[in-house]
Amino acid sequence: MRAAVLTAVDRDLEVRDDLVLVDAGPGEVRLRMGASGVCHSDVSFQNGTIPVALPCVIGHEGSGEVIQVGDGVEHLALGDRVIISWTPPCGSCPFCLGHQPNLCTVGMGQAAAPKFSLGSDPVFGGPGTPTFAEETVIPAIAAIKVDPETPYDVGALIGCGVMTGVGAAINTAAVKPGSTVLVIGAGGVGISAIQGARVAGAAVIVAVDTVEKKLQWAKQFGATHATTPEGLNDLKQNLTGGLGFDYAFEVVGSAATIRSAWDQTRRGGTTCVVGVARMDQMVQFSAMELFYSEKKLVGSYYGSADVRTDFSRLLRMWKNDQLDLEGMITARIDLGEINQAFQSMLNGEVIRTVVEF
Ligand SMILES: NC(=O)c1ccc[n+]([C@@H]2O[C@H](COP(=O)([O-])OP(=O)(O)OC[C@H]3O[C@@H](n4cnc5c(N)ncnc54)[C@H](O)[C@@H]3O)[C@@H](O)[C@H]2O)c1
Ligand SMILES: [Zn+2]
Ligand SMILES: [Zn+2]
Repeated sequence: MRAAVLTAVDRDLEVRDDLVLVDAGPGEVRLRMGASGVCHSDVSFQNGTIPVALPCVIGHEGSGEVIQVGDGVEHLALGDRVIISWTPPCGSCPFCLGHQPNLCTVGMGQAAAPKFSLGSDPVFGGPGTPTFAEETVIPAIAAIKVDPETPYDVGALIGCGVMTGVGAAINTAAVKPGSTVLVIGAGGVGISAIQGARVAGAAVIVAVDTVEKKLQWAKQFGATHATTPEGLNDLKQNLTGGLGFDYAFEVVGSAATIRSAWDQTRRGGTTCVVGVARMDQMVQFSAMELFYSEKKLVGSYYGSADVRTDFSRLLRMWKNDQLDLEGMITARIDLGEINQAFQSMLNGEVIRTVVEF
């Protein structure tokens, strides 16, 4: 079977045809992949920003069809079309019962065993739900059944980038109509946050990116203003009278941009951290400013999603033309081109690349 394997940090992925995949065990399903998006977190697995057990098949933003159902799985049948949730909600832990199923770790733990092999060597499935493979085996609770008409590419994007970005705006930060919003980093997740803020009725949406092309794209998806980092202070002055933005989303993954998002947030506003930075990056705050500013600093993990209802909610928004998802797909590739796709992402040439199977 064909899949892209990460064998060591900072090494190119190896696209191989000779992987063997396990059968779906109890509580699992086997999928034939339809499409997988390339998310920056995949690049972060590859470069060590997010540690993963090696060797492993990565990719985590995907959609496919159920081709085998393990024992005890009752909610899925052969031929079902599903979107993969990289945080499978177990349904019964304190987080799931407390309406924060995105923070469930039970399902991820269940998915940790190696799913592939190369000869006699085990190959892990990334952090649990690998998608850079023709077929994959995942916990059944990670396979969210959707309308069979759902295009695989649209489904794939919802599986991570769109759920995360839109969810950060409408779930985590709960952007209010008429508000002022800043989004730092206009990649696939940032553009999704921009779309989420637009849907939520924000009056001002400022996109910041270091790449000019991203600024043009951001405007197509709902940003009212767009600038490189150098122009941000002037815009803050002009648009908010210097007070700062009601909401500032950090969607890059660095200490510097988190601090910048905080500095651009108005007193009493919300700074929402979506980007995933290296573990050793530290953000500094003075003890006084935390109290005095009364700003809220919130992380957003998977857009605070309940995937069991939010995937179909996003699909309804897409069908109703509230979200432009096809427009976010600026490259379509074969799995064999995955390393070039990582490079295009790092060069800022794409919003989202989709691997088609
Ligand atoms: N919180 C979550 O659950 C979650 C889920 C998915 C992705 N992520 C993270 O979100 C981040 C974005 O992911 P993506 O797929 O959109 O990546 P991406 O590479 O498509 O987008 C990042 C954007 O940031 C821009 N950028 C880089 N440095 C910048 C700077 N100093 N100032 C302004 N812009 C800058 C890049 O040009 C690029 O457009 C990554 O850190 C990823 O790991 C988090
Ligand atoms: Zn992702
Ligand atoms: Zn749980």
